Amino acid sequence: MLPAKLEEIESSALAAIEAAAGEEAIEQVRVEVLGRKGALAAISKEMGKVPPAERAALGKLLNRVKEAVEGRLAARQEEFAARALQARLDAEWLDLTLPAPGVRMGSLHPITQIQTEIEDLFISMGFTVLDGPECETEYRNFDALNIPPHHPARDMQDTFWLANGHLLRTHTSPVQVRGMEKLGPPLRMIAPGRVFRNESVDASHEHTFYQLEGMMVDRDVSVAHLLYFMKTLLTGIFHREVTVRLRPGYFPFVEPGFELDIACLICGGGGCPVCKQSGWLELLPCGLVHPNVLRFGGIDPEDWNGFAFGLGLTRLAMMKYAIADIRLLQSGDLRFLRQF
Ligand code: DAH
Repeated sequence: MLPAKLEEIESSALAAIEAAAGEEAIEQVRVEVLGRKGALAAISKEMGKVPPAERAALGKLLNRVKEAVEGRLAARQEEFAARALQARLDAEWLDLTLPAPGVRMGSLHPITQIQTEIEDLFISMGFTVLDGPECETEYRNFDALNIPPHHPARDMQDTFWLANGHLLRTHTSPVQVRGMEKLGPPLRMIAPGRVFRNESVDASHEHTFYQLEGMMVDRDVSVAHLLYFMKTLLTGIFHREVTVRLRPGYFPFVEPGFELDIACLICGGGGCPVCKQSGWLELLPCGLVHPNVLRFGGIDPEDWNGFAFGLGLTRLAMMKYAIADIRLLQSGDLRFLRQF
C-alpha cells in the first residue's frame, strides 16, 4: 500500500514541477512534498507500522522518490534562475559600439553676447565698465540729469515707484551721475544694465529691457569726438562700414541732443519695409553733456565737457539677429535660445 502511495506522490510531484510557472510554484511543491510536514515526512512516520521484512525495501524506495523529486526541483530552479538572468541581461543591454550621445553645450544669451562685444571694444579705447543699482534714487534717475520735479520729460518714461520713495531706474543714465561722483574728470565710462518702464507689453515693448550708457568727459570734447566713437562702435558691432547721420533730438541731459541714424542695413539706404522706405534706421540717442549735469556730478563745466549716449541693447540685439518679437528675449524658450 505504501509503495503505491509513494509512486503516486512521485508522479504527481514531478507533474507539478513540470507544470510550475515560476520559482514560487516550485517552492510550494518542495514544501508540500519534502517539507517537515510534507507528504514524504508523513510516509516516514508510518514506516514504524511496516513489517521489518518490508522496511528496507520501502526505505530504499522512499529515498529514491525523495532524490528524484529533489533532482527535478533543482533542475527546474536552475532553469528559472537562468531565465531571470537572461531577462535582466536583455533589459540592461547596451551597445558599446554606438557613438556616444553628443554633449549639448549651453550658450550665452544674445544680449549678453552683444554686451560683452561692446564692453571689449570700449575697454580697448580706455573706457571703464561701471555698474549701478537697478533700484535707484529719484535724484540720480531724474534731478541730477537735469529733469527737475514736474518737468514734462518725467512723463516720457513711465516709472515704477517703490514704496520707500525710490524707483526702478528707467534708464542707465543715472550711472553717469555715479561715474562722475566716483571717478571725476577726465572720465570714460560705459554702463550696461537692466532698466524698467511701466508700460504694457507687446511685440515691441517690454517693461524690462537692457541699455548701455556711455559717457566721456574731458577737455574740448566735440561732436566730432562723439561721431568718431559712435562710428567705431557701429563698425565693431556690424563688422562693416556703416553710414551714420545725426538728427536733432531732445533729452534734458544733453545739449545739443541728437538721434543717430544708420543707413538701413537691409537695403543700404534705397528704402525697404524694414526702414519703412526711409533708407535710415534710428539707432541711438546721444549728445554733448548738459552743463547742469556736469555740475550735479561735481564737475566744473567751465573746465570740462563731454558727450553721452544711450544704446538700446535689447533693440540692437533685435536688429542684429532680426528678432521680430521683443518678448522672446525674456521668454526662456530653449527653442529660441539654442539658435545663438
Ligand atoms: N536715457 C535715455 C532714455 O533712456 C537715452 C539717452 C539719450 C541716453 C541721450 C543718453 C543720451 O546718454 O545722451 O531714453
